[in-house]
Amino acid sequence: MISPMLNANALGGKNIVVTGGGTGLGKSMSAMFMRCGANVLITSRREQVLQETCAELSALGSGKIDYAVCDVRKVDEVEKAIDKAWSSIGPVNAWLNNAAGNFISPTERLSHKAFDTITDIVLKGTYNCTLSVGKRWIAEEINGVFLNIVTTYASTGSGYVVPSAIAKAGVLALTRSLAVEWAKYGIRSNAIAPGPFPTEGAWSRLFPAELGKKLDPLQRIPLRRFGNHEELANLASYLMSDFSAYVNGEVVTIDGGEWLQGAGEFNNLEAIPNEMWDTIERMVRGKKDN
Ligand code: HXC
Ligand code: NAP
Repeated sequence: MISPMLNANALGGKNIVVTGGGTGLGKSMSAMFMRCGANVLITSRREQVLQETCAELSALGSGKIDYAVCDVRKVDEVEKAIDKAWSSIGPVNAWLNNAAGNFISPTERLSHKAFDTITDIVLKGTYNCTLSVGKRWIAEEINGVFLNIVTTYASTGSGYVVPSAIAKAGVLALTRSLAVEWAKYGIRSNAIAPGPFPTEGAWSRLFPAELGKKLDPLQRIPLRRFGNHEELANLASYLMSDFSAYVNGEVVTIDGGEWLQGAGEFNNLEAIPNEMWDTIERMVRGKKDN
């Protein structure tokens, strides 16, 4: 386990809501916030998962942890979760939009309902939460922090996850738009774009075993490893903390260089063995002399 980058009280006084905080990366980021002294309220649709995660994380740090069952697609449930957070962990001053749904599929196999399902969780869910909590922050003059989890393909687009790609692109646009518009209220908005970090939720839907026989996702990553949850959680803690008070409207990529490997025109020359470069150099230099 990687140590917290920040000290045990760096997030003291932060009352943080984490959507989708019962599992995966949301759980890991919640754990790190706890270890840095925050009070945390996690939300998702499954109460038992939330209860188990609360029990597991309650021993970490000096803060309080609680949960609220909430489907982010439903405004009334979001409003109730916000009410519960305010009364349970105190006035919320940081919000992590992390809940998501996703699966791989050729786009032409998707029903309209499948498109709605993903975009409703990812984009509508994020703006439901952002609008409801943002209005309270403005009314109560709270200098809050939004942190939104997107993906690297929020900027590039990606086939086979098209509903997720368009929804995450919308979340990125929301992040950058409000970073400017709501700065006058002392509200910051930032995003993190993770590359692959192993979680049950993502791996079961995006990298099923059958696919692994055909494709090695590690070959796409220059550092040749997946991300470690605490690496992401430390970055999230920094962006939630007052140490990042001047960071606003930023999207921080944490992907081992993955998207750049795909983007650089000649990066696939990595496949050329060293001994071939003498021949190639002779050919290239020879061309110049002609
Ligand atoms: C085609 C599918 C499908 C599939 C569901 N559908 N799975 N279509 N291929 N594999 C269709 C259904 O048939 C239905 O349409 C519609 O989608 C809604 O499905 P439901 O099962 O009714 O939806 P729901 O119960 O709300 O569940 C949502 C879910 C589910 C997204 C489908 O997987 C879920 O709960 N996911 C939450 C967690 C998650 O996805 N985590 C991964 C995040 S990882 P019809 O028309 O048939 O009714 C991530 C990483 C990105 O985002 C980057 C990685 C590097
Ligand atoms: P995960 O464990 O499946 O997390 C998704 C969470 O969202 C779950 O806890 C789920 O809980 C919750 N959720 C789904 N639909 C919801 C809804 N309608 N309302 C409320 N909560 C809902 O997957 P993960 O890998 O940790 O993903 C976390 C975030 O990281 C997502 O934003 C994902 O897009 C992003 N991300 C992940 C990776 C990766 O490699 N893992 C890479 C890039 C980006 P319930 O089912 O109980 O509701």
